[in-house]
Amino acid sequence: MSIRYLEKDRIFWLDTPNTTYLLGIVAQEGFLGHLYYGKRLETITGARELFRVTEPPFVPEKNDRDRSSFFDAFPFEYSSHGVGDFRESSLRIRTKSGHSAVSLVYVSHEIRKGKGKLAGLPATFGKEDEVTTLVIRCIDPVTKLEVELSYSTFEKVDAIARSVRVINGSLEPLYLEKVMSACLDMEARDLDVLTLHGSWARERRMERKPLGHGKFSVGTQRGESSHQEHPFLALLTKNADQTMGEVYGFHFVYSGNFLAQAETNQFGNLRVVMGIQPEDFCWKLEPGERFQAPEVILTYSCQGLGGMSRSLHDLYRNHLIRSPWLHKKRPILINNWEATYFDFTAEKIVDIARESAKLGIEMLVLDDGWFGNRFDDNRSLGDWWVNEEKIKGGLGELVSKINALGMKFGLWFEPEMISPESRLFEEHPDWAIQIPERRPCRARNQLVLDVSRKEVRDFILDQVFRVLHSANIEYVKWDMNRPLSDLGSAALPADRQGELSHRYVLGMYEMQERLLQEFPNLLLENCSGGGGRFDPGMLYYSPQIWCSDDTDAIERLKIQEGTALLYPLCCMGAHVSVCPNHTVGRSTPFATRGMTALAGTFGYELDVTKLSDEDKAAVPRQVRAYHAFHDLIREGNYYRCASYLENHEFDCYQVVAKRGEAALVFFTQVLATPNMHSRCIPLQGLKKGTNYRIFLVNLDKEELMTDTGRCVSGDLLMQAGLLLDRPWGDFQGRLLYLEETP
Ligand code: GLA
Repeated sequence: MSIRYLEKDRIFWLDTPNTTYLLGIVAQEGFLGHLYYGKRLETITGARELFRVTEPPFVPEKNDRDRSSFFDAFPFEYSSHGVGDFRESSLRIRTKSGHSAVSLVYVSHEIRKGKGKLAGLPATFGKEDEVTTLVIRCIDPVTKLEVELSYSTFEKVDAIARSVRVINGSLEPLYLEKVMSACLDMEARDLDVLTLHGSWARERRMERKPLGHGKFSVGTQRGESSHQEHPFLALLTKNADQTMGEVYGFHFVYSGNFLAQAETNQFGNLRVVMGIQPEDFCWKLEPGERFQAPEVILTYSCQGLGGMSRSLHDLYRNHLIRSPWLHKKRPILINNWEATYFDFTAEKIVDIARESAKLGIEMLVLDDGWFGNRFDDNRSLGDWWVNEEKIKGGLGELVSKINALGMKFGLWFEPEMISPESRLFEEHPDWAIQIPERRPCRARNQLVLDVSRKEVRDFILDQVFRVLHSANIEYVKWDMNRPLSDLGSAALPADRQGELSHRYVLGMYEMQERLLQEFPNLLLENCSGGGGRFDPGMLYYSPQIWCSDDTDAIERLKIQEGTALLYPLCCMGAHVSVCPNHTVGRSTPFATRGMTALAGTFGYELDVTKLSDEDKAAVPRQVRAYHAFHDLIREGNYYRCASYLENHEFDCYQVVAKRGEAALVFFTQVLATPNMHSRCIPLQGLKKGTNYRIFLVNLDKEELMTDTGRCVSGDLLMQAGLLLDRPWGDFQGRLLYLEETP
């Protein structure tokens, strides 16, 4: 068992392959304190010293005069509210009498094999021999609020999944105003904080800065995990880079409002909290009712950011993504959005499919505009029936034609939305999220459906299912194109309006679950105006998520670097599109666009009938490379070798087979520099004593690979580096394949 309770020391000892996490119980009152999280320990004699309760102010039973000093400095495992700890609280309630204080003490615990589900929420999972779970029950003796702190450790991955369940054990209703899913108190050090910020078309840019005193936080109140901030935060020692230094990562398995915060106080105590954003959140708990807070993933690496990335990738591939598609090659798709936008007919779609099939593309995805009266983005969301003006003969006929070409068919939906100009709105205006007498804020001229209501979910799913049953539709792109505002639900009483945002997320999760139950083999791709809801929660439902509406190969280097910091490449939706690029107007070589898209779930987003002969001839070559290398890209270990974000000149990363016998090196020169030697880039993750033969992968030539004739030892490639020629011209890519050779 990787979790132990040391009875004599009153310490819980949690191990993962390379990390240890220690917490314990102090004082007769039974406070839960945090002792250690970091590199794996073999022995822990003397660990209780770290509670520092043998020095002033001691514990309250020895010095009740200075109780507040104790509360404000003790490393709590899950912080209290309003009783003398002036740092960030983990929990806040409002009682019938209007008080908000809460302070927990230990009651009991249980250690078991395996890991239970979190009611209504996405969460990591594992078999009994893969994961162990500790549940600690606590109580606030005054309000009778009961809290269960849950910790799951994974046998083969350096990650701990934490979550919290709150139960109203009193005889009165309580209002839960804040419930963090994890709190971690540590000794402050000279640390940096790393987050991923962004915007539409600029998602998940890495940003690193020094952590000082006070509070540093990221979060969102947009009702989705958001383009703007990612539900992630990492703390890094100053020396941390891709290969060395210590990194603490916190990642939230949730798709709605969140808060992630690091705080350093007067005594040099550092507290990190992560959970549902408390702003606008208030959940009424009747006596006996429970609230399940979502899960936070904690990971510690002493091998820098690369170590963190690979732990998270393995965790998500083995313990979070459930789709039967996870370990399969996904069909290479072509999406008509950038090809036609709203302006298409069935004939046009079949033309695109016919040409695509010839080139080896395997699935046609019909994007926005196929339903209701949807000739532009001002109307018809909610009217999920086929627009026969555009698609004469209906979807059945269209899909049969596409299937007859040997291609699969996929369809776009935006199930959580309602257009004010729609039949749905005419019939159910109260189904939109809005506040009575306040004109709701429109975005892209649409409103958000109140999917916290069962009748709304049933109605929409009924329509979606009807469409999906009407033809052989094997893929769905589930979009969500605006944030939530004007939070009001016609179905909730006044004292439950603060539950809307979370109920919305639970409703959306339930819809996705029901979709997958109805169509278990469906390939689902989530999307939100590009990557506005790219988070671990959504991965529980869909094995891939559209990374960004920005398909420019160079912008994608930054977006995909930030995304791959946390997520395996197999879940990043990436497509080749036309130039000049529709978002930034940049022109890049077709081969470079292909290479960038190959590092994700590969596909096209263009009108293939309008491609130049040269580009058209390159498509089957890219398709061939996808088939040759996608198993490696999907299942391999990811290593970041150089960051264009940092050096402003070039980008380089590797995917290495799990046993090190083969690797791909993706190199992109963004800007050419004249009069220089080749570049020398140290590789990672190879076998030291092995020689590797180096091949150039051709995305624009007849043969798949050219043997460069070079053979270099893994040791040398990792220590001295791989020599890479400097291509002539900007935006040039090089894809190299390294193979173990005797
Ligand atoms: C969002 C998606 C795009 C496309 C459009 C359609 O922006 O990210 O890929 O589906 O919606 O309206």
